[in-house]
Amino acid sequence: MSGTWATFGVDLLLELGGKRGREAVATALRDAIRSGRLSPDSALPSSRSLAAELGLARNTVADAYSALTAKGWLSARPGSGTRVAIVSLSLPRGAPSRPRYQGPALRFDLVPGRPDLANFPRAAWLRASRRAFNAAPNDLLGYPDPRGLVGLRTALTEYLGRARGVRTDPDHILICSGFAQGLSLLTATLARTGARTMSVESHGMARHRDLIEHNGLSLRPVDIDESGARTDELTDSDAVLLTAAHQFPLGIPLSSARRAAALSWARRQRAVIVEDDYDGEFRFDRRQVGALQGMSPDLVAYIGTASKSLAPGLSLAWLILPPRLLADVIETKRLTDGYTGVFEQLTLEEFIRSGDYDRHIRRSRLHYRQRREQLVAAMQPTTSRVIGIAAGLHVLLELPDYSAADEIALHSRANRAGIGLETLDGMRFRSDPTARAGLVIGYGTPPDHSYRAALVALRELVG
Ligand SMILES: Cc1ncc(COP(=O)(O)O)c(C=O)c1O
Repeated sequence: MSGTWATFGVDLLLELGGKRGREAVATALRDAIRSGRLSPDSALPSSRSLAAELGLARNTVADAYSALTAKGWLSARPGSGTRVAIVSLSLPRGAPSRPRYQGPALRFDLVPGRPDLANFPRAAWLRASRRAFNAAPNDLLGYPDPRGLVGLRTALTEYLGRARGVRTDPDHILICSGFAQGLSLLTATLARTGARTMSVESHGMARHRDLIEHNGLSLRPVDIDESGARTDELTDSDAVLLTAAHQFPLGIPLSSARRAAALSWARRQRAVIVEDDYDGEFRFDRRQVGALQGMSPDLVAYIGTASKSLAPGLSLAWLILPPRLLADVIETKRLTDGYTGVFEQLTLEEFIRSGDYDRHIRRSRLHYRQRREQLVAAMQPTTSRVIGIAAGLHVLLELPDYSAADEIALHSRANRAGIGLETLDGMRFRSDPTARAGLVIGYGTPPDHSYRAALVALRELVG
């Protein structure tokens, strides 16, 4: 049977493919949800009206609804009928990413990736902005160097050398509008100059993988074990993307043996290592590990960002380039984007030079360390395990009592309880329903006054 439209308020096109049972209705609904055609929280027709449209018995549709509700695909609430559950499903590779759920505000936002925005140093930032702008000559407001303002590049050279062990000079830094743009500039340049493949860690952000493929490189996954990315699997790629200081999302640092192995692979292969130092400022256990870039500036392109240390809304990141890529990447930036706005650059330069950036980082490090400790303590009575080193703004919570196949239902339960979070399987290069379930929890975002309540809600969810 081909498609048909239900009436009575909500239209729903369902392809039953010639079958007429409860399973056929459930499969068609699941496919529509998975593909993103039915979005989270959208209302479904009543079982009576859908059954009438499809020419089926009402119970057939009602049974399909109940089965999908029990599995967490749908939710049924008195007064609001049956709706698609509020989950963000991992999409099959190649499918366009769907926007994140934008429904009613979450009670507790534990979605990883964001710092505590209430902690943004507004007053100090405004003061730095005023000082910087007052001192800036008019020329600085003209067309800037595509690499960004030399003053900021100089301040970053000093700061990154001191705090992250990066070895560079202002000429090899390019200011861009976020890690994602840095990765895009690099991968577009690599593809234009002959590269074909890029290795990526087997777990990471789907958006970054999509971006690499969009720029024409094919992806090669590399497994991760307790020493970090398996460098013996790098083989013949042209480049690799590594979260060396703190693997995202597993939280493991790349061991020193693996760091050395990655560098000798890159040298042998004439390949480029792209180092994503997204939260390198936030290590809490006093075992600061410098950037991989500092060991071999000729082999590593380093990308740092203000998205975690300050706020994503600033849209500022820095790319430190090996000499052989410098001219080509600057050209890509000039041709695709021109330059990055100067106002925030001027302010960040002044913010770093005045010592405000160091003060802010040290304060934030303490704040996030306390939050992580509270989270670890709150989860102790449960069977979950916190994985990874004490660092960053997120933890991976492994759930030995569940498998990855249960994650969607768990995520849906979390959303019904008003908790935003991410599932581990959604971050895998290849989904693996047989693996242990995991939840990726960002502890930076909730405001202080609701953090304890957020932890109680999380404990109830996994406990
Ligand atoms: C692994 C990883 N890299 C980089 C970033 C920062 O990206 P951007 O600077 O584009 O905001 C994030 C932010 O969530 C991240 O999780």
